[in-house]
Amino acid sequence: MIIVKSEEEIDLLREPCRIVRDCLDFVGERIRAGMTTKEVDALVYDFITANGAEPSCLGYYGYPASACVSVNEVVVHGIPSERVLREGDIVSVDLCAYKNGFHGDGARTFRIGEVSPEKDKLVRVTEECFFKGVEGLKAGTPLYDIGYKVQKHAEANGFSVIRDYTGHGIGREMHEDPSVTNTGKRGTGPRLPANCVICVEPMIALGTWRVRILADGWTAVMQDGKSAAHYENTLVVREDGVEILTL
Ligand code: MF3
Ligand code: CO
Repeated sequence: MIIVKSEEEIDLLREPCRIVRDCLDFVGERIRAGMTTKEVDALVYDFITANGAEPSCLGYYGYPASACVSVNEVVVHGIPSERVLREGDIVSVDLCAYKNGFHGDGARTFRIGEVSPEKDKLVRVTEECFFKGVEGLKAGTPLYDIGYKVQKHAEANGFSVIRDYTGHGIGREMHEDPSVTNTGKRGTGPRLPANCVICVEPMIALGTWRVRILADGWTAVMQDGKSAAHYENTLVVREDGVEILTL
């Protein structure tokens, strides 16, 4: 069931979303070659808690960290570790903050120093996929129009769309209905109601879209070992468009 939020609830949601946005900016200003992914996670934990929020990911189904830090061939749910970031890596940082009884959720893919032209394009196109996906989105839009637009832009650029993970509704729970797929058939799916809150999060790969999960039960890596990128925002669907809360 897609939950419609009241204006009061949306106001409460603004703060965790602002913290997510500011935390992603904070990480973006500091992430660099030589850092471990655990050090990136520590930045996230410190920022979120210093802002009076809780990192929603920590302990979520046993997840051991505050952020997912996914390097190159890791598409999502990279568990922070002693892995050292190197010049030329692309690193997605995905995090959620809980405050006022609501969750905010967002992700960015950062370039470490100079990256190859193909990785550079992948990161750019993945961001573009988000904005294409939400173009024209407003109350009454069929859900799978989003995935249709994301997929069209990714594939037009020679990339592929990860099928195994999706965006989602968000609110008092980190994951609510609906599943916001990044592929789809135009004009299909439930029509999104005004004041529903969703996370749109394209996950786009250079090669195959097929992933496998490592033995840790979380880390999702591309089967062909090629890079993937991820970009996510939390947004409110309005009568006349969208209000993006994590930008
Ligand atoms: N932030 C992720 C999402 O977009 C969820 C991360 S899973 C967790 O849905 F276990 F790390 F929390
Ligand atoms: Co999400």
